[in-house]
Amino acid sequence: MKRPPVKGTRDFYPPDMARRNWIIDGWKKVSLRNGFEEYDGPIFEYLKMFQLKSGDEIAEQLFSLTDRGGRELALRPEITPTMARMINQQINALPKPIKWFSVPRLFRAERPQKGRLREFFQWNVDIIGVDDVLADAEIIFTTIDYLSSVGLTPRDIRVKISSRKLLACALTNIGIREKQLDPLYGLLDKYNKIPADTFEKMLPDQVPDSAAAKKIMDLMSATTLSEVPEIAGTNAEVDAAIQKLARLKDLLEQMGVWQFCDFYPSIVRGLAYYTGVVFEVYEFAQELRAIGGGGRYDNLLQDFGGPSVAATGMGMGDCVLGILLEEKGLLEKQLQKCQLDYFIACADKQYFQKVIEITAKLRRTGKAANFAYKPIGLSKQLKQASAQGAKECIIIGSEIESGRLVVKDMATGEQKTTELDNLLK
Ligand code: HAM
Repeated sequence: MKRPPVKGTRDFYPPDMARRNWIIDGWKKVSLRNGFEEYDGPIFEYLKMFQLKSGDEIAEQLFSLTDRGGRELALRPEITPTMARMINQQINALPKPIKWFSVPRLFRAERPQKGRLREFFQWNVDIIGVDDVLADAEIIFTTIDYLSSVGLTPRDIRVKISSRKLLACALTNIGIREKQLDPLYGLLDKYNKIPADTFEKMLPDQVPDSAAAKKIMDLMSATTLSEVPEIAGTNAEVDAAIQKLARLKDLLEQMGVWQFCDFYPSIVRGLAYYTGVVFEVYEFAQELRAIGGGGRYDNLLQDFGGPSVAATGMGMGDCVLGILLEEKGLLEKQLQKCQLDYFIACADKQYFQKVIEITAKLRRTGKAANFAYKPIGLSKQLKQASAQGAKECIIIGSEIESGRLVVKDMATGEQKTTELDNLLK
């Protein structure tokens, strides 16, 4: 009986695994060349760690369990709280700034849909200890560095940037009280994700004053930064937040990646802990959900019992990215199939034992080598050699009696006879 995997999870057959490895290898390579070091943590943590600061949406999507000692645990839905916990433990010993990356396997009990699953991989890059928008620029640069390294251009993807600080000042000017802000962010984050009329119907629950609700609708539909003070009024804090974004733009221009970016006041981010610059990456037509997103979260380490340390970072999942790369034809081209140095073919079954011996010897010298387990015809073996991506096919026939064998170059088809000893050297 055929049994599919649990809803929202994936089986990785070898071609899927090759694709997954290719994506993850790219993330790792780009992290390293941007100066990030790899870390990881446990796959489960205490439940309350994810209930504390991640926000209602994540808390509602937790896979939780109680262990035999009665401890309430949860599978990690993100790695940022784990990272904050780990850094807090060694905060004095770790050289600053801390630039860390990780590719955790994460779990969220979401309703599975295109680009959203219950188990996925997520690339994270974070910079801790830099209270300067330069660190936000570095995070955005690294994100774009990866996306352009796989062939995506500014016509394929857009990095939409805003600031929670700017939004907080604007909302305060509109008359929203501080304690209303956190739940309101949760709703505003849905602005680009749910139908406009549904959003408009939900807004009065949190903002009963219709004049304020109207200004929030105007803010959410703003497409330039200059509209924000026009809608919500200005003061020194609004000016400072806009200045910070202007410097971020200058830095991204200097880094040569601003052409991928736009300011979008309606970018809020769903997670509760963001405090400053926030951004999300979308494919151009915005038909898919976000490819990735992140921002500054200067209070999280302190919220987890550590000192007050500035922090900024980004997370990108493998699902939407994989769909986009496939749609653009950028994935298949670059996937590597199983690559062998040699396929050892048997020209006559009386030499099969030699085939086993030579394959084993080649493998022990560090070469990737394979052979057919059953005595099949030579042409079938050559087909297997090419299906397995062998660079050369070694044919063992009567020449082996005098210590010689035939080597066929699989790309050119050229054949030559050589000494076994030469090959094993
Ligand atoms: P997030 O926006 O929750 O942020 O997730 C970041 C990305 O992870 C999303 O844009 C998406 O690509 C992927 N993702 C999220 N949920 C799913 C899902 N159910 N299925 C597939 N992919 C998904 C965070 O997680 C933050 N911790 C990122 C961060 C790191 N901020 C600062 N540092």
